[in-house]
Order: sequence, then C-alpha cells, then structure tokens
Amino acid sequence: MRTFVPRWLVLTVGALPLLMACSEPEPPKPETQSSLTPPESQSMLAEQPATDLLQVFKSPSCGCCEGWIEHLDSAGLSTSAQHPADLAGVKTEHGIAPQYRSCHTAVSADGYVFEGHVPARYVQAFLAEPPTGAIGLAVPGMPVGSPGMEMGDDFMPYQVLLLKHDGDAEVYARVDSAADQ
Ligand code: CU
Ligand code: CU
Repeated sequence: MRTFVPRWLVLTVGALPLLMACSEPEPPKPETQSSLTPPESQSMLAEQPATDLLQVFKSPSCGCCEGWIEHLDSAGLSTSAQHPADLAGVKTEHGIAPQYRSCHTAVSADGYVFEGHVPARYVQAFLAEPPTGAIGLAVPGMPVGSPGMEMGDDFMPYQVLLLKHDGDAEVYARVDSAADQ
C-alpha cells in the first residue's frame, strides 16, 4: 500500500495541469459542433436514397443474420437491424407463409420482403425491377454456403423463390454454386 501512495500523488499532480488546460477550451467547442452538425446530417440524408434502406428483422443472438447483413453492406445496400419481440408475427404480417420462412426478414422502404439468406445481387435485381404481383424473394431454411451461412467450402445448391401476393411462389433464380451468388 505504501508504494502506491507516492505514485498516486505523482499522477494527481501531473494530471492537474492537463485537466485544467483541457477544461478551459471546452466551452466554445459545443457551440461550433452544434452549428456544424445539422447541415452535415441533412446533406447525408439527402444523398442516401431511402429506397436503398432495408430493415432487417431478426433475433438479437442470430450470428448468420449478422453475416448476411455484412454481405449486403459490402454489396452497397444499407441495412438497419431490428429486434422485434414477435419475429414470427412480422413474417405473418408481411405475408410470408411458413414454408418460405428462414431466420430473418428484410423489408425494403417500398414494403418488399427478402426472407432469409438471399444473395445481394438478387435483392438488387428485384429492387431495380420489381416483378408485377410479387411481394419479394425468399430462400427458405438456411442453405449451407449461402451468404452468411458459409461453412468452409461446403455448398448446398438452393433456389431463390419469388413470393407472390396470392401466396404462391415460383423460382426466381437457381444458385448451383458459390460463384452464382
Ligand atoms: Cu440464418
Ligand atoms: Cu438470419
């Protein structure tokens, strides 16, 4: 204990001038920051089209969901993670039948849904030209090797389904290899 006392004193004495020096220039700072912040955030909002933002509804503990979000982000899509108390309720609300469900549900600004590990290129292709009568895309289950579901070199071929308003689905794309993603 005795050896700590001198060190503490040295630190305190050494820190005092710094603290005093730091506290003096601080008051003007908040004013300059607050005057700069509004125009900056406004220009950022104006540059980012709202149509690119996808709300991703998922469980807070879902690791593969995070992997999929990273995949979308690196493809240039904007995402916002949401953790609803009733995730199944969100799927029901958006018309996603039980057989098409996966771990997460992404919803675009226009209300289109992307259920599960849909590759970003298909999300972008769909949003660029939404097919008539479609509510979105789905990759049911969680195929090994799909974006966010990487497990070494393992790959399970899967289909991206086009979900329709009437509850039907048709094949939107076949993903036979990792290179197709
Ligand atoms: Cu998943
Ligand atoms: Cu997920």
